[in-house]
Amino acid sequence: MRMRLGALLFGMTGACPVQPFRDKAMTEDELLKLATAAAKKAYAPYSKFEVGCVIESIDGEVVTGANMENACYRLGICAEQSALTTAQHQFGLDKVARIAVVGGTDATVCTPCGGCRQAILEAAQLSGRDVEIICGSGDGSGVKRHTIGALIPFGFGPVNLR
Ligand code: THU
Repeated sequence: MRMRLGALLFGMTGACPVQPFRDKAMTEDELLKLATAAAKKAYAPYSKFEVGCVIESIDGEVVTGANMENACYRLGICAEQSALTTAQHQFGLDKVARIAVVGGTDATVCTPCGGCRQAILEAAQLSGRDVEIICGSGDGSGVKRHTIGALIPFGFGPVNLR
């Protein structure tokens, strides 16, 4: 199957070959506020740890998600995966450009768990673009910026199955 050079490079190294469009992009603050609002819609009666996620497309569209737990604990889903399913439905995984995640109530910045990193890697490798991840703390005091290439270097993704 044909593969673009960017996708190949990203798949092999996790390096960021292409930057997404920035014309219609929200500010980082706006994304974090949306993620905080999304966290308020979490269903997290067991952990009480509410997480919200916003995904922005390369065209500036945004979708949100929150964690949704289950009485059968292992069936709970994370905010990022909730938002990713909506992103796929709304504009396609290959258009994912930036992700903001906010969780908890204190100053600890909420970074995506390992499973969510793998799910985000799927979107990144599909497009051949690295994905920016803005991580915020629940109390609003902390922000850290990462890329999926840095959070899961040399990951296994769709590129490996071509
Ligand atoms: N959680 C997320 O939604 N995203 C993450 O990346 C980390 C963890 C959720 C899962 C569970 O509902 C709660 O936070 C505590 O682990």
